[in-house]
Amino acid sequence: MFRTHYIDACVQALDEQVTINGWVQSRRDLGGVIFLDIRDRTGTMQVVFNPDISAEAVSIADQVRSEYVVSITGKVVKRSADTVNPNIPTGELEVKGEQIHLFNPAKTPPFPIQDRVDVDESVRLKYRYLDLRRPKMQQTLMLRHKAMQVVRRYLDSQGFVELETPILTKSTPEGARDYLVPSRIHKGEFYALPQSPQLFKQLFMVAGMERYFQIARCFRDEDLRADRQPEFTQIDLEMSFLPLEDLFSMMEKMFVTLWKETLGVDIQSPFPRIPYQEAMERYGSDKPDLRFGMELVNVSPALEKNSFQVFQNAIQSGGVLKAIVVPGKASWSRKEVETWIGVAQELGAKGLAWLALKEEGVKGSVAKFVSEEEIVKIKELTGASTGDIIYIMADKQKAVANVMGELRLRLGRALDLIDESKYAFAWITEFPLFELEEESGQYVPAHHPFTMPVEEDIPLLDSDLGAVRSQAHDLVLNGYELSSGSQRIYNRELQMKMFDLLGISQEEAKSKFGFLLDAFEFGAPPHGGMAFGFDRIIMLLAGAKNLRECIAFPKTASASDLMTEAPSEVDEKQLTDLHIKISNKQVVR
Ligand code: AMO
Ligand code: AMP
Repeated sequence: MFRTHYIDACVQALDEQVTINGWVQSRRDLGGVIFLDIRDRTGTMQVVFNPDISAEAVSIADQVRSEYVVSITGKVVKRSADTVNPNIPTGELEVKGEQIHLFNPAKTPPFPIQDRVDVDESVRLKYRYLDLRRPKMQQTLMLRHKAMQVVRRYLDSQGFVELETPILTKSTPEGARDYLVPSRIHKGEFYALPQSPQLFKQLFMVAGMERYFQIARCFRDEDLRADRQPEFTQIDLEMSFLPLEDLFSMMEKMFVTLWKETLGVDIQSPFPRIPYQEAMERYGSDKPDLRFGMELVNVSPALEKNSFQVFQNAIQSGGVLKAIVVPGKASWSRKEVETWIGVAQELGAKGLAWLALKEEGVKGSVAKFVSEEEIVKIKELTGASTGDIIYIMADKQKAVANVMGELRLRLGRALDLIDESKYAFAWITEFPLFELEEESGQYVPAHHPFTMPVEEDIPLLDSDLGAVRSQAHDLVLNGYELSSGSQRIYNRELQMKMFDLLGISQEEAKSKFGFLLDAFEFGAPPHGGMAFGFDRIIMLLAGAKNLRECIAFPKTASASDLMTEAPSEVDEKQLTDLHIKISNKQVVR
């Protein structure tokens, strides 16, 4: 009854008798001859039941329906030429069914088990085990498995040891809210699920493990987006005594190997390095999509003396004028021009000026304010030429970067400038150590509070926090942040100083991170590391647009699992054991 061959292996079994197991994809009755398509993880196979061979088998085959689970025994033969299906690997073959055994019937599934059907995602998630039967989902999960093996093998070959860290632990600050787990034994106390294994991996370095990695599950209670899940997987690693340069090249090799072994694609290394400041200036983003140009250009130098009030005001108040050149679009209609102004406004711009460099002269909203000399300078700075249209936004640096960075992406997509077959990796380096949190006016760590400042900027810790660069870096790919990491502080005084600067009192630091501070007094080596978002890597390898397509059992945007219906209420008794009382119950769906 149990299989002798997976379906894909039947290709090598012509004229042999095989037993295949799987699910009924479809059934057709052509004048008493029953055709079944049988599916397993490896493909589908057509099986033909003919009364000449077995009347009993025909009568069973006649009763099966989609998704019934069956075992079929028969001979692998060539199909007649007119029934060959060139679209599938087994399309030249069929099995002449001799016996069929029904393991289990199935209800009619809520959606057909095949790719290219448009099914509401909530239905897919409710019946995820059926959704995961679809070939596309199976391929993605298989890709995920393969990628995990490649990473493990690679890191092992580089002397990394795979070690686990606790899930029931103490809060590690990564900037998100913690998921808390109440303690039954310690009344009123809580564990936190790890936002990352950050502190433990640093302690492995103090412990002398030298090179650690973990395929680590992380938990963050934050607002979800297409590229964020409340629980997700990191390839987390940490190393001692290794210059950042060596770490970069080691990780680049990991990606070269990963892309080669999963997609058969050669990616170029070394990856470009772009300091954070430069990325913000050229792309308005710290995760730039480098598959196309259309960079932002600072045209303030060309328009310093310009009389247009909006430009003057921006420059006077320390802001900037940034341009995007849209090549060949001086011919756009008024409506097309306005569409993009509307987009910029939706993104938060107060306005967007434009100049169309037409054969017959310069036209546009600010054409009358801009002299010929200024046009020459703008052309020089931007590389624009006749036939192009130039959008210019004037505002504070941050606002301009936000709007123009996003506008660049949207223009790139709309105008088909993005080569979808490209993988554009880059390291973004020298992130600022701190970020000013607007609501509180307080500096917060741009990465996390264990990140080492750039040596030469250490004196600035006492004078200009906003200007301190860190030894932190991200790996970006096609506009996504794949990893973050840094060289770490390994000195107790500097770590205490960081906490102090972040407004964390000595007592608080000791109560939250005392174990780390203590450890730093017992000989901590220089160390650093990073963590890659594994789900995001799979999303990019699979060409998917959403993390949920790459995670077997994901959560929805409201952090619920539609299949298990988690989160859910618990028994009163459980709450009592945990010393918990629910005060104000609200249902969110
Ligand atoms: P960071 O917080 O930047 O760094 O996380 C590292 C990488 O994890 C991925 N990631 C996510 N993926 C899916 N859903 C989420 N909610 C989510 N949040 C993050 C991203 C990100 O680049 N401890 C540090 C690393 C270090 O310094 O070594 C850390 O966790 O791809
Ligand atoms: P307004 O004063 O809002 O009527 O705008 C006059 C012109 O200035 C229009 O072409 C606007 O698109 C442009 N404009 C307004 N605000 C900005 C800005 N922040 N940056 C660039 N152009 C702007």
